[in-house]
Amino acid sequence: MTALNAFFDRLWQQYSAISPQAQAIHRLFESEGEVLINDHIAFRTLANCDISIKHLEKEIFALGYRHLDSYHFVEKKLDACCYVHPESPTKIFISELLWQELSGRAQSIIENIINQLKSAPLAHGKSRLSCGRLWALPSYADYLSLLDESEYAAWLSVWGIRANHFTLFVNHFRKYQQLSQVVELLQKNGYKLNAAGGLIKGTEGDLLIQAATMADKQFVDFKDAGRQQISSCYYEFAQRFKQKDGQLFQGFVPDSADKIFESTNSGESRD
Ligand code: NI
Repeated sequence: MTALNAFFDRLWQQYSAISPQAQAIHRLFESEGEVLINDHIAFRTLANCDISIKHLEKEIFALGYRHLDSYHFVEKKLDACCYVHPESPTKIFISELLWQELSGRAQSIIENIINQLKSAPLAHGKSRLSCGRLWALPSYADYLSLLDESEYAAWLSVWGIRANHFTLFVNHFRKYQQLSQVVELLQKNGYKLNAAGGLIKGTEGDLLIQAATMADKQFVDFKDAGRQQISSCYYEFAQRFKQKDGQLFQGFVPDSADKIFESTNSGESRD
């Protein structure tokens, strides 16, 4: 197995362990005879610290990736970068939270997380992109404080650095070549999809259209509140179109990505 396949495999094991729907959807498309190719894998992290994009990207550069483009999300207070590989259709998307733009209360919760990074150095050779949570589980009270301001921050505080979502590359399907057909099959099978900005985000003119399930839920034991059910990960679907030069567009569409981030909002979102 190549280093790249081993990297993807480890991420998939970790991701699918807390996202049972991803395994079920994987099996659903396999049973339809489809070839499953990942369009991209996305990660969440914190800016201005030892796990910022600048630190994490070293690992994917070593795997042969190169930086393609950068993005900024004003409302969600995120920066992001996209990376492509010459021999793989699977892009990497890493976003980082500009946590210093949050309230003092949220900043102090995040500073506490960052301070713990210094005393939790990674074992030599261990992947940073699948290191999970390198800090103690926050209290449920802190989790809810973060959730009030940034669902992204709340998710990251519990799940750490790991794949936030995998994305099936609809262009490689044989039977379900249109994203609308994929959406229809998912709905027929009872999957709840992210409806923010419409079930299908983007237009053919954007060269990328996307859809996503709503994240699975997992029980987590918090010291101050016992067993609570919180959002884990979702599965995404992408269909790409050709640029003027005849090549498939490889980047991302910020307006669509902005809505896709909301796939980890809980059903009882306080927004
Ligand atoms: Ni995505």
